[in-house]
Amino acid sequence: MVILVTGGAGFIGSNFIYYELDKYAEDRIVCIDALTYAGNLETLEEALKNERFVFYRGDIADGEFVNGVFAKEHPDIVVNFAAESHVDRSIEAPDIFLRTNVIGTMTLLEACRKYGIQRFHQVGTDEVYGDLPLDRTDLFFTEETPIHTSSPYSASKAAADLLVLAYHRTYGLPVTISRCSNNYGPYHFPEKLIPLMISRALADESLPVYGSGENVRDWLYVKDHCSAIDLVMRKGRNGEVYNIGGHNERTNLQVVKTILKELGKPETLITYVKDRPGHDMRYAIDPTKIRSELGWQPETSFDDGIKQTIRWYLDNRTWWEHILAGDYRNYYERMYGDR
Ligand code: NAD
Ligand code: TYD
Repeated sequence: MVILVTGGAGFIGSNFIYYELDKYAEDRIVCIDALTYAGNLETLEEALKNERFVFYRGDIADGEFVNGVFAKEHPDIVVNFAAESHVDRSIEAPDIFLRTNVIGTMTLLEACRKYGIQRFHQVGTDEVYGDLPLDRTDLFFTEETPIHTSSPYSASKAAADLLVLAYHRTYGLPVTISRCSNNYGPYHFPEKLIPLMISRALADESLPVYGSGENVRDWLYVKDHCSAIDLVMRKGRNGEVYNIGGHNERTNLQVVKTILKELGKPETLITYVKDRPGHDMRYAIDPTKIRSELGWQPETSFDDGIKQTIRWYLDNRTWWEHILAGDYRNYYERMYGDR
């Protein structure tokens, strides 16, 4: 089987590539990534040594490029991770979010129609459901929860999901969508909450908590997300949406305090800053469908996963220090510059 992974130089896509290469000795992985600021080819250093892996630098919204890769590689399954993914950036500059997340997804869907595939899997987000109130802990997002987006990021991801479902209904394209809660783990770009707080705490810098820090996120260890995507794309029912989450709700303040405690740093580093406009209060997933239909269960609790993640950031300082210094952006030229 040939699996085309878009956005594979990012956080979840790279974890997924390693998961697939490790689990399936027969499959070939083709990765497309534009290497935006969030893409880091250094993350794929080990994969690049594997003869079952090939990398193409390019934009998923560029039809000529995408068609060229499909014509050459003939993927059986396409998994679309490529996206602009940071809510704060979408508030500053929404246009690139529409181009990559919406036009990019459509461009991939068109190529799938043209060349034929067994499955197109869209990696979606629970943020398309908007948020839940803090005082209704009995409420969870199900696949039936109405789409009700808050940020340009979530609006663009919702548009992409709707396009995917439209291609299924109108053109009969075989598709699945997964909607996951917040991920954490290795190779997470240090602009997102957990790696940002770890790297800043290690440097004894202030930790900027938005608003009062009471917002709740439902944290999922990235490897558990990878196992869920793998199941859905291979065994999920055609045309269906599956929510992915493991009931690991924490307030932002709880997360930050846990990190400080693990690192032996003082809580005086916490600084309350101006809130994010439109800041969603609570995300919480009901994973009943994926559990009952596909037998998926997450393996890592937040208490274990956060310890493993902190350990990883301590053991892999070069990885994130290259990012903070901007050096990671030269890696592609070093690898491919003279080819
Ligand atoms: P990321 O920002 O770490 O990685 C995105 C990758 O996509 C980068 O390698 C980037 O270079 C690439 N990319 C961006 N624009 C591109 C384009 N036009 N063409 C080709 N490649 C492009 O994101 P992530 O956190 O790994 O998220 C992956 C997917 O999972 C996204 O679709 C995101 O919406 C979704 N998701 C993420 C989370 C989370 O907690 N991180 C939760 C739910 C869903
Ligand atoms: P983030 O990692 O950006 O993910 P998302 O917005 O997609 O959930 O943020 C997670 C939570 O942490 C969110 O409620 C915003 C908050 N946050 C801070 O308080 N300070 C920060 O510096 C960042 C990046 C996020």
